[in-house]
Amino acid sequence: MSTRSSRFEVVIANSEFPDGDLEQEILGKIGATVKKFQAHDVNELLRITRSAHGILCTYEAPFTKEVISNLENASVIVISAVGYDNIDVKAATEKGVVVCNVPDYMTFEVAEHTVALILALIRRIPLADRFVRAGEWSTYGSLSWTRLRPLSHLDGRVAGIVGFGRIGKQVAERLQAFRMRLIAYDPYLSKDDATARGVEPVSLHTLMKESDVIAVNALLSKETYHLIGDQELRLMKQTAIIVNTSRGKIIDQSALVQALVGKRIAGAGLDVQEREPPDPNDPLLKLENVIFTPHVGSTSEKSYSEMRRMAAEEIGRVLLGEKPRHPINPEAVVKARLPKGSREHSEGPKKPAN
Ligand SMILES: NC(=O)c1ccc[n+]([C@@H]2O[C@H](COP(=O)([O-])OP(=O)(O)OC[C@H]3O[C@@H](n4cnc5c(N)ncnc54)[C@H](O)[C@@H]3O)[C@@H](O)[C@H]2O)c1
Repeated sequence: MSTRSSRFEVVIANSEFPDGDLEQEILGKIGATVKKFQAHDVNELLRITRSAHGILCTYEAPFTKEVISNLENASVIVISAVGYDNIDVKAATEKGVVVCNVPDYMTFEVAEHTVALILALIRRIPLADRFVRAGEWSTYGSLSWTRLRPLSHLDGRVAGIVGFGRIGKQVAERLQAFRMRLIAYDPYLSKDDATARGVEPVSLHTLMKESDVIAVNALLSKETYHLIGDQELRLMKQTAIIVNTSRGKIIDQSALVQALVGKRIAGAGLDVQEREPPDPNDPLLKLENVIFTPHVGSTSEKSYSEMRRMAAEEIGRVLLGEKPRHPINPEAVVKARLPKGSREHSEGPKKPAN
């Protein structure tokens, strides 16, 4: 995968794709050589990222303080995702490494996935599918009749959105089409913004108590780790469901198991879990009132190629001394280290070399 010149070394620390061809095609134009790895632990990251000028990664690569301190040349890390909780951003800022995410490539996909999980849960679609395949039709008094009925509906019910950012807003728009009443909890949400979207801002306590459907769409941080724990789950209606397409650690999963086993809530739809992939013996996997998908909320042909392109272009911008579009730590942009040996760079941004 090498190019004729290599002004910059770009490392794909890990990726969901078998090759780095697209990244090489884009970054080759500025004289970068792209090396692709599949590193998921600190030791591997220490080894493969030490000399890189730019790094691409997913949320599964732990960019700890140790890994960041070990970087000799890097000026930028781009995570091909929205959430960046795997990166010690403070350590990166201190080191002068710009951290960027790719926030806007898959908002619709995740919003649609959230609604899909909600509908599949309240209409019990996976269970109904299993009945039909097993030759069980829903005749009066049959097993499927007893277990599938009464099914639920959304019309006129209350949907509570935890985290009213890009995805939360798109979920709200879609649920409004089902004529639901919308409430949201987000400490950074302005009342005007919420009201303009037909959504009532409420406390987390009120949201947990009043919602029939809860969609978790917040960002994972120290503040939101186990934001929804035993206390919050105990506020939920027995008929309510909760769907999480953000990050597993926002919900205390053992408290969730207790709530589901005790039938204190009606169900859960999880695209993300506290541990991914889950332990095969996780009690959650045995529960019928839970629907899982394997962290694929953002997946679509279009979103993946867009995301790869956007991530690679962001690396290119920082390496050329241009302003990145989505820096998490903009304060690091000014002190970002220039790739060693790049004379062009110290003279300011240059047009990509062809
Ligand atoms: N399942 C997937 O495949 C997938 C794909 C993309 C993103 N995600 C997750 O979805 C999350 C949301 O994405 P987004 O694009 O809407 O991000 P965003 O940054 O636009 O929205 C996150 C929202 O969380 C809010 N928030 C922060 N602290 C909070 C708190 N204490 N309580 C409640 N809300 C709080 C923020 O104010 C913001 O509005 C991401 O952080 C990411 O982890 C998952």
